[in-house]
Parts: sequence; C-alpha cells; structure tokens
Amino acid sequence: MRMTSPVTTIAEIGKHEGQAVTIRGWLYNLRESGKLLFPIFRDGSGIIQGVVPKNAVAPEVFDALKGLTQESSVIVEGRVRADKRAPGGYELDVMNVEVLQRVPADDPFPISLKEHGVDFLMEHRHLWIRTPRQAAILRVRAEIIKAARDFFDERGFTLTDPPILTPAACEGTTTLFPVDYFDEQAYLTQSGQLYIEATAMALGKVYSFGPTFRAEKSKTRRHLTEFWMVEPEVAFATLDDLMELAENFISFIVQRCLEKRPADLKTINRDSAKLEKITAPFPRVSYDDAAAMLQEAHAKGLLETRFEWGGDFGSPDETYLSAQFEKPVIVHRYPTKIKAFYMEPDPLRPDLALCMDVLAPEGYGEIIGGSQRMASYDLLLARIREHGLPEESFKWYLDLRKYGGVPHGGFGMGIERVVAWVCGLEHVRETIPFARTLHRLYP
Ligand code: 4AD
Ligand code: MG
Repeated sequence: MRMTSPVTTIAEIGKHEGQAVTIRGWLYNLRESGKLLFPIFRDGSGIIQGVVPKNAVAPEVFDALKGLTQESSVIVEGRVRADKRAPGGYELDVMNVEVLQRVPADDPFPISLKEHGVDFLMEHRHLWIRTPRQAAILRVRAEIIKAARDFFDERGFTLTDPPILTPAACEGTTTLFPVDYFDEQAYLTQSGQLYIEATAMALGKVYSFGPTFRAEKSKTRRHLTEFWMVEPEVAFATLDDLMELAENFISFIVQRCLEKRPADLKTINRDSAKLEKITAPFPRVSYDDAAAMLQEAHAKGLLETRFEWGGDFGSPDETYLSAQFEKPVIVHRYPTKIKAFYMEPDPLRPDLALCMDVLAPEGYGEIIGGSQRMASYDLLLARIREHGLPEESFKWYLDLRKYGGVPHGGFGMGIERVVAWVCGLEHVRETIPFARTLHRLYP
C-alpha cells in the first residue's frame, strides 16, 4: 500500500489534527490486548501512541505490527486525533505501516525499558541516547549552546575560533594531551583563552566555543577529558565587569531553558522551581570569606577535612559552598599561588589574583572560571619563567603586552557542567553524546 499522506514529525503533529499524516521513526514500545494493538512510536522529535483495532485495518497492517520488536524502524500512516490523556495531547489511528528493518526477536534491542547499570549503558551509549530521558538531555544541551551563542551574538561579541593544536599549555602542564605534529611536539588545547586575548585586541569583544582537552586523571562526576567550553574575552574589562557578565550570562541560559524546554525538563524530572530562582545578581564571596565558611563548617562537623587558607577548594569544599546558596555564588580573589600564570594580581593584595569562579547551587560546584589578565610585560615574563613554561612558545602572547596592551579579561564556562546542573544530573557523562573520561574511549 503506498503512503500518500503528507510527511510530518511527531512534534508538529498537532498542526494536522483530524488529518491523515505519515511519520517516520522507530517503535518505542508495544502493548497488545487481544484484537487491539497500542504501538508507541518515536521519531526523535517526540513520542506518540498509535491505536490499531484488528477490524479497522488491513490484515497485513495488523500482522506487521503484532509482535513487532522494540526499535524496529517504521513508516506509519495514520489519522491524528486529539486526546487529552495522551502525553503529547494526540494519538494516531494507524491506517498503514511499512517496517523498514525488523529488529530480530532473538537478538533484541539491548536497552530494554527495565533498569540497567551505568557501565552497561555507557558501553551502549550509541543506543542509550535513543531513550526519552537521554534524548531530552541532549535537547537541553543544544538549547544551552544556542542560548550561549545568542547571548554573545546579541551583545556585540564576535565569534573567533582558536586553534585546537597548540604548541604550549594554557592551564598548566599536568593535564596536556601530547600529539605528534610532524617533527614538533604539539598538544590538544586546554582552553582557547590565550588566542582569544589576541582576537580581543583586534575586535574588542570576542568569544570562542569549541572542544577543549584535559588529561584529567581524576575520576569524578565533574571531569571529562574532552569537553566544550564557551569563552568570552573583553578588552578593557575589569573583574567587576566580568562578574556582572557572568551572572547575566548564566541567568540568560537558565531562563531560556525554562522558556523553550519545559517538556524536556519534565521528562528529566527536573525541579524547575529551583531554576526559576536563577536571576542576576548573584551573591559574591571573597576567597578569604569562603575559606572562613569552610573552616566553620569543619568545626561544626559538616566537613570532614579542615580547609587551610591558601589551598584550592576540593570537590567536597565546592559542594559545601555551592549548597549554601539558592543561586550560583561567585567566589573571587583566590591566592595567586594556586591560580594560572596569566592572572592579574590584585593591586591592594598582590598575593591574591583578580579572578573568580562561579559555583552552581545544589552542590554542582564550579561552572565558570575567569580572571583579569596580566597587563605588565615584565611580570608576565617572570611568571612564565616561574611556571617553567617554554618562553619561545609564548613570544606572541607577550607581544600583546608590548603593542598597545590594555586591561582585559574573560572567563570560560564548561557546557557539560552547566547541562548537568540545569538537568539535575548525577554525573557529567550523560551531558554529552559520547563522553570521554579516564577509562572510556568507546564507543
Ligand atoms: O577554570 P578553567 O580551567 O579556566 C580556563 O580554562 C580559563 N582559561 C578560561 C578563561 O578564562 N577563558 O576551566 C573553565 C571551565 C570550568 O569552570 C568548568 O566549567 C570547565 O571549564 N571544566 C571542565 N568541564 C568538564 N571536565 C573538565 N575536566 C573540566 N575542566 C574545566
Ligand atoms: Mg577553574
């Protein structure tokens, strides 16, 4: 039987109420009750239940659907009927079906509707992403990326793409991935920052969005070895400007998700009341005060280890700090010693850097790191030497302090950490189609 009804998607099916349409997708589930079949179809845009009474369709249509296996690919023709009880508001009275590929009954789709262990799911990630929850997370991820780009595009920033193959480190040498670059040693980029400092001197306000790599040996729920970072960089920006930019940026992203992705957030079971509170301004706490908060928490028995001033926050410290606020908290002015070589010292307290981290609430920890950049040629050169970095590779970077240097700064936001927070996920591995972690390079 030829299918002649117009092709549409499940997301758009409401526009065709009362009409016959064709949809193309996969069988998500099938309920059978005697002479009645209830196949559930998915097409990537949504899910819809079909109704197939034996006496209302041709025998070959009923036979094709009866016993059809999960994830078999199908083209279905049917009439759209509004149904208040249906999750999407519509059902499909099936008229015709073509099975493109029938999944063998003796070798069924590995991800059944029952629970599976995480290792099994990650091993089958290429198939796991078809399930409604994972698909919803990927749609929220796409929304967050679009929101990030819209935010900067609408505010006079120019997108500039930094290289991925680089001759030197940006964020310290311990997490570099080496690459053979003909006769030279190269590394996968840890951050586009150094390069967008150059493009900011050319274009004023710039941003980059791309993959970044860290050979992180830490196996935590927040670390990937390959992740995507959005980095704005602004000529003449001070630390205060950066904090304001960061809080407006985060609020914009969260509000956009609430506006555009309510159905997906519901599928994921996200408590959106918590997200509704995410509006600028955000609380700001100095590193000194944050250190005092952590010490007090330890004294009260709320934190196992005592935090020593001068150290970097560990995961439990970040979790504790971020759990104290309903909004993201901006921690600023960390000790210079524990931060990257390029950060501008605070003129009032040269042992501190003019930097900030934004910690997401609900214990999600750091989602943004940024700073004002070092302005002085001589001090920058001294820092490069102190950090044992190859001076030759940074000659061009020093040039930026020689030819019309200006105060400037920026920050980086890890997309996966934000997706994990916005979706309320346990681990960043679910925030990206194919996560790369310490022990995973497959699929
Ligand atoms: O704090 P980081 O290391 O800052 C930089 O790379 C700066 N050069 C950015 C800049 O100022 N332009 O990383 C920035 C953000 C973190 O706050 C976190 O969200 C994310 O990148 N991130 C990671 N995300 C997932 N897995 C990892 N291993 C990450 N490391 C950092
Ligand atoms: Mg950081």
